[in-house]
Amino acid sequence: MAIWLSGPDNRCSFVNKRWLDFTGRTLDQELGQGWIENVHPDDRERVATAYRRSFEVLSECRIEYRARRADGEYRCLLDHGVARFSADGEFAGYVGSCVDITDLKRNFEQHLATQKLESLGVLAAGVAHDFNNLLGAIVARAESATSELAPGSPATYDVEQVRVIALRAGEIVAQLITFARQENAPPAALDLSSVVAEMLDLLRVSIAKAAVLETELASGLPLMQANADEIRQVVMNLVVNASEALEGEPGTITVSTAPASLGGDSGGAVRLEVRDTGSGMTEEVKNRIFDPFFTTRFVGRGLGLASTQGIVRRHGGSIEVESAPGKGSRFTVLLPCAAGQAAPVPHAAELDVPSAETGGTVLFVEDEESLRSVIAKCLRRKNFQVIEAADGAAAIEILKSDPGGIGVVLLDVTLPGISGAELLDELRWIRPEVKVILSTAYSRETAMRGFGGRDVWGFIRKPYRTDDLVNLLRHAAGASNPSGDSSG
Ligand SMILES: Nc1ncnc2c1ncn2[C@@H]1O[C@H](COP(=O)(O)OP(=O)(O)OP(=O)(O)O)[C@@H](O)[C@H]1O
Ligand SMILES: [Mg+2]
Repeated sequence: MAIWLSGPDNRCSFVNKRWLDFTGRTLDQELGQGWIENVHPDDRERVATAYRRSFEVLSECRIEYRARRADGEYRCLLDHGVARFSADGEFAGYVGSCVDITDLKRNFEQHLATQKLESLGVLAAGVAHDFNNLLGAIVARAESATSELAPGSPATYDVEQVRVIALRAGEIVAQLITFARQENAPPAALDLSSVVAEMLDLLRVSIAKAAVLETELASGLPLMQANADEIRQVVMNLVVNASEALEGEPGTITVSTAPASLGGDSGGAVRLEVRDTGSGMTEEVKNRIFDPFFTTRFVGRGLGLASTQGIVRRHGGSIEVESAPGKGSRFTVLLPCAAGQAAPVPHAAELDVPSAETGGTVLFVEDEESLRSVIAKCLRRKNFQVIEAADGAAAIEILKSDPGGIGVVLLDVTLPGISGAELLDELRWIRPEVKVILSTAYSRETAMRGFGGRDVWGFIRKPYRTDDLVNLLRHAAGASNPSGDSSG
């Protein structure tokens, strides 16, 4: 702890060695008014005024300010001074102490940031659920309208566009959920190029208007054992930084992936590169970009690259940067590959099972009426018998009263009342052989986790194309026995 004394003239008369070690200056430099030179220029007037006011009434003085440490970094200090008196009661000046509270503040801010992210996640999940149902209804309505339009009708193009745009909106919502960290998937064998490709929509809406995003994604990369959310976060942080480096001017951001090697006899690796034609960095800035809370931007938190580096290290990889002022920047991330590579999990829709000619009977459990009615209509048009249920209780009643017609249950994961997993147990108890297909705005992995190893035949992510759903239902009707494998 640094200690200081001042005289009755409000001039510094002593600082201890701790203070001198902190500032890297001599005692002579600090005495009198010299110490204030260490205070951040933006804080000086406030600090001087606060001391003066305390002196006038001899009150206790407690003030926070930034002071420059010997290495040039500004640290946040809490300075606490009280009036002191000589033995005969005469005012002799102030005595005070200074504590470096930078780390304390950072922890607190990090805690707040985490909390903010968590509430954002809850919000995003709620929005995503409702939004995806509505988008699903738009897609299905547009498909239904297309099939009813006269061939060659001028409205066909517009209606088709409505469908395509709604599907894209659905993709963005899906990426948002992942970003808000509602989905924290365990490490899995991932293809880096696919991870990047799947987030392009979100990246495009996240960068500046004048920025052009280009990709050079290698196909057939070796798989890496990684946490998908974290890898997405790395890509996002680097691309957003690149966009910010363009400073509102037109420019290009290029994301590329390629096979690589980590050197030595360690196994294969993959390379992620994000480069931009933006401002570039000076040597001084470049040396500090990975420090937590280092930022040159007014609204920056300086956490992007610190967390990126943390993630890359946790995955056993490395990150490097090349940059010069006016020459743009290039961030290169190397990530090691999985030792025993697992094949990617096939989707139920891609499985090689015979597809039935007729649709059979489907119990469609979905609480969003606007979505349920239009999907049911489309399925009926494709020769399915559809029985609709708005919640779990209705689904149970229907299944109990139906002795054998229902072959497939299409189940929305987030229903009011009884949980999806409980409902599945009930349905299985009533009809063990019924095939269940889950549908949700979340990814397959997240949805499956909620069902903890239960026997689920298939999965389809909302919003979906009616054709994909029909395809999946026909396969379910054609498959001879329920198979847990197809759920992944
Ligand atoms: N592509 C880039 N081009 C130029 N400077 C960059 C680039 N990427 C990062 N920087 C510099 O590194 C600093 C730290 O980046 P970092 O992502 O950690 O924090 P930030 O972007 O300032 O804030 P945030 O926490 O919101 O990400 C930036 O403020 C910027 O000065
Ligand atoms: Mg950043």
